[in-house]
Amino acid sequence: MSHTQDNKYSAQDLFQPYTIKHLTLPTRIVMSPMARAFSPDGVPGPDVAAYYRRRAENGVGLVITEGAIINHPAATSEPRLPKLYGEAALNGWAEVVRQVHEAGGKIFPQIVHMGMIRANGSQPNPEAPSIGPSGLDLEGNQINAPMTAEEIAGVIQAYADAALHAKEIGFDGIELHGAHGFLIDQFFWEKTNRRTDRYGGDLLNRARFAVEVVQAVRAAVGPEYPVAMRLSQWKMGDYQAKLADSPEQLELLLNALVEAGVDIFHCSTRRFWEPEFAGSAFSFAGWVKKLTGKTTITVGSVGMDNDPAEAGAEAEEHPGLEGLVERLGLGEFDLVAVGRALLGDPAWAAKIRDGRLSELQPFTPEAVGTLN
Ligand SMILES: Cc1cc2nc3c(=O)[nH]c(=O)nc-3n(C[C@H](O)[C@H](O)[C@H](O)COP(=O)(O)O)c2cc1C
Repeated sequence: MSHTQDNKYSAQDLFQPYTIKHLTLPTRIVMSPMARAFSPDGVPGPDVAAYYRRRAENGVGLVITEGAIINHPAATSEPRLPKLYGEAALNGWAEVVRQVHEAGGKIFPQIVHMGMIRANGSQPNPEAPSIGPSGLDLEGNQINAPMTAEEIAGVIQAYADAALHAKEIGFDGIELHGAHGFLIDQFFWEKTNRRTDRYGGDLLNRARFAVEVVQAVRAAVGPEYPVAMRLSQWKMGDYQAKLADSPEQLELLLNALVEAGVDIFHCSTRRFWEPEFAGSAFSFAGWVKKLTGKTTITVGSVGMDNDPAEAGAEAEEHPGLEGLVERLGLGEFDLVAVGRALLGDPAWAAKIRDGRLSELQPFTPEAVGTLN
């Protein structure tokens, strides 16, 4: 898209720097966290470093890595997802960070515990039972016992340890995965959190686990280090789920997280343009920005408008790059995360920046199986 006199906003707006605390991102394009499972024994190798570097070299301002696993035996179901603990994995990550920095980009790890999304008996620690606030899976089936107070305290400490490791090896900030029905979100969601102690009950009590995780992370990394949290209304297996069914409820949740120390909200939606609440065109990211004034990242089908695999309602309604940069220009959000389009084409952002639209490689599901 070119900058003409009729267009108040331009794709070039995506390539303006953005500063948060002491961190300046060279562009507004964020690589969305995407689990890739290319790290044998949880150790990211040179191919993983080169994969992230290619995006940083090509116009991505901030890489948010695939979910990196905290130090708890039941945190993952897949031994090839990278760990954020242990010397070998941390050395691997240090090289990823070095390469992204050399290419001029910034990088956060996404810090993850899967909770009850992990099936009992999963590798690499099949003997460790899966854990969740009430031991329920995302369908609400009772699988295991609820987490004990000691388990909760231990897992909170493991999130804080992971954040400190990230800071020590040079990551520019961290993102906590509080979305999609993973462990933190299992506490938020009433379907998976039936606790009657201080971690369960109304929305604020269900947010207590997240608040304590953020407080512990903040205590570990200090006041100046950027801390992001990814949130979503939807859950894996339930796209209609809602944590907050009104802006007032959302505000309650967000205020608690801001007070605990969140700087950046990564607002996960499947389509960045969809209104979040009836009576307003504002997206989820738009509401979060309006309610908190904090840095917000939008996400959902950016760059997927011309994709044959996305035919149907999504393709027809997609407002395209014009719609995206207009919302950015109007201040609805600050940063734009891109997932699948960046898997399909490592140079997606640079091609948008340079107007090389005919050269864009579309996303195909096969892209998930390779580390191009
Ligand atoms: C292969 C793949 C793996 C993903 N893994 C994660 C993940 O580890 N953590 C996360 O928060 N989201 C994950 N997501 C969701 C993406 O970050 C993103 O929100 C989603 O793909 C929508 O953005 P898009 O339309 O630009 O692809 C994953 C998506 C894909 C396609």
